[in-house]
Amino acid sequence: MRVGVLTGGGDCPGLNAVIRGIVRKGVPDYGYSFLGFRDGWRGPLEALTKPLDIPAVRGLLPRGGTILGSSRTNPFAISGGVEKIKRNLQNLGVDALIAIGGEDTLGVATKLCEVGVNVVGVPKTIDNDLSGTDYTFGFDTAVNIAMEAIDRLHTTAESHHRTLVVEVMGRHAGWIALHAGLAGGANVILLPERQFDVDQVAGYVEKRFQTQYSPIVVVAEGAQPLDGQMVLHNQALDAFGHVRLGGIGQWLAEQLEEKTGKEARTVVLGHIQRGGTPTAYDRVLATRFGLHAIDAVHEGDFGKMVALRGTDIVRVELADATRELKTVPVERYTEAEVFFGS
Ligand code: F6P
Repeated sequence: MRVGVLTGGGDCPGLNAVIRGIVRKGVPDYGYSFLGFRDGWRGPLEALTKPLDIPAVRGLLPRGGTILGSSRTNPFAISGGVEKIKRNLQNLGVDALIAIGGEDTLGVATKLCEVGVNVVGVPKTIDNDLSGTDYTFGFDTAVNIAMEAIDRLHTTAESHHRTLVVEVMGRHAGWIALHAGLAGGANVILLPERQFDVDQVAGYVEKRFQTQYSPIVVVAEGAQPLDGQMVLHNQALDAFGHVRLGGIGQWLAEQLEEKTGKEARTVVLGHIQRGGTPTAYDRVLATRFGLHAIDAVHEGDFGKMVALRGTDIVRVELADATRELKTVPVERYTEAEVFFGS
C-alpha cells in the first residue's frame, strides 16, 4: 500500500509532527510506503512529489512550518482538476491520501471522497475553528505567542500611559483573541462573532486608565464595528473566495486616540503567530493525530477526520467536520467581559 500525504492552507506549528507520526507508525507497523505531495492540492494536481520515508522525518518534531510546503490551491476551481488528481494518483500508485488541513483543504477532501478518492483528514489550523474536534493543533502555539506578546506590551504601555491595540489572526472565529486575551489579561477583547461599539470600547479604555494601568485591547483581524464594514487589506480573493484581512487594529487605535485623547498604538502579530516551534501540547496532539490517521487508513475508514474529544482521539465524518465553522459561543465571550475596562 502506498499512502500520499499533503498539507494545505495556512501553515501552522505541528504539521511536521503529524507527518512524522504517520510515517513512524505506517512503515514499521503496516509496511506501507509513503509519498509526500508538495504544496497542498497543487501536489496531486501537478504530480509534484517528495520522497517520504523514516530518514526524511527524523528531527521533525520541533520544526515549524511544513516540509511538504503548502498552498491554497482549490482543484474544484480548476477545469478538469479532479480528473487530473485521480489520474496522477493512479499513475503514481497511490492508494490512499492523508490530507492535513483546515476548512478549505478538508472541504476539498470531502468532495474528493464523494468521487471515489480514498482520503483521511487531519484537522489543522491556528484558528481552532474546525467543527468536530475540541482543538486543532497549532492553536495552542499561536495563543502562547500572542499571550507572551500581550505580557510584554503591558509593561511598555504602562511606562508611556498609552493604549495598545493588539491585532491577532482569526478571520471568522475569535478563538485566538479570546484565549490570548484572557491569558494575557487584556482589558477589551473584540471578536468576529460580535460587532463592537467603538464608543463602548473607548469607555472601557478610559476606565482602565483610571486604575493607573494602561489598557490592552485585543482585536481579531475579522472583528467589525457596529454597522461597519470589515476592514480589508485589499479586495483580492483567494481560490476559496476569502478576502485578505488586516487593518482593523490600526483603524481602532486611531478611533480610540481621538475619543480618549490618549495616545494609542497598534501591534499586528500576523504570521509570527504561525511560525516557529510548536508547544508541547501541539506536538503531542499532532503526533497523536498522525498515529490515528494512519490507523484509519489501515482500517479502510475513508471519508473520516481524526478529532480530539476530551482526551480521546476519535473519528468523525469529514462532511460533518467541514459543514460549518466552530465559532466562539456567546457564553464564552460573557466570561471574558468580566475583565473589560478593569
Ligand atoms: O487560517 C489560518 C490563518 O492564519 C487565518 O487566521 C488568517 O486569516 C489567514 O490564515 C491568513 O492567511 P495567509 O497567510 O494566506 O495570508
